[in-house]
Amino acid sequence: MSQLDPTLMFDKARAAQYDSQFARANAFRDVIHLVTDLAFASLPNDARILVVGAGTGSEIIALAARHSSWHFTAVDPAGAMLEVFREKAIAAGILDRCTIHVGYIETLADLPLHDAATSLLVSHFLQTDASRGAFFAEIAARLKPGALLVNADLAADMTEKISARLYATWEQMLRETGADAAGLDNYRAGFGKDFAVHTPAAVEALIENNGFERPSPVLQTLLMRTWLTAKT
Ligand SMILES: C[S@@+](CC[C@H](N)C(=O)[O-])C[C@H]1O[C@@H](n2cnc3c(N)ncnc32)[C@H](O)[C@@H]1O
Repeated sequence: MSQLDPTLMFDKARAAQYDSQFARANAFRDVIHLVTDLAFASLPNDARILVVGAGTGSEIIALAARHSSWHFTAVDPAGAMLEVFREKAIAAGILDRCTIHVGYIETLADLPLHDAATSLLVSHFLQTDASRGAFFAEIAARLKPGALLVNADLAADMTEKISARLYATWEQMLRETGADAAGLDNYRAGFGKDFAVHTPAAVEALIENNGFERPSPVLQTLLMRTWLTAKT
């Protein structure tokens, strides 16, 4: 696997503070959830949603609150993140509508095909084109033909002059969500290495070449881009 171990990056300590750490930037999270909810409006009442890299499952909590009979398959290798999600699902009374899989998407056992999928801020952790492409292909394999996918990732053309201003604004968000000077240095050193920062066009090509239609950009929140597409 061409990525840092997510069970170390998203360990118990990180999982415990993940939801509160970015409170200042909750509007970014919420607008991605709103766009996802709008995109999925035509799904049937009994829709099955595959949520890859679910983490603490905020996208599931948001969608489940508005769609009382949708079923969710939450997939994530980081068990500590999914444990936080499990507690949130119990509190929200939706655990019986969730299948929780601790592991990578390729280890997800045969389940009925899904009507839609989300992958929010996940695929950039896969650092090579090959592994990132395979990730999208594994999602496509678990979807019905025509099923929708909302994918969000960090993406930017860092060779463009304007990207420096964008990065500075992103860094301000990190500062205001608790990063100190050492943390910002560390983040800068890992940018594009610990996680991929492909250009938007490169991410779109990886999605399109691995089982999906050409994705439509539906949202940009600083360095985060969100696309909507459908399985071919
Ligand atoms: C930044 S968090 C996003 C969590 C959630 N989707 C959200 O929007 O709040 C990224 C999550 O992706 C998971 N992840 C990393 N690599 C993954 C992979 N190859 N497959 C599935 N999940 C992965 C991490 O464990 C982590 O929980």
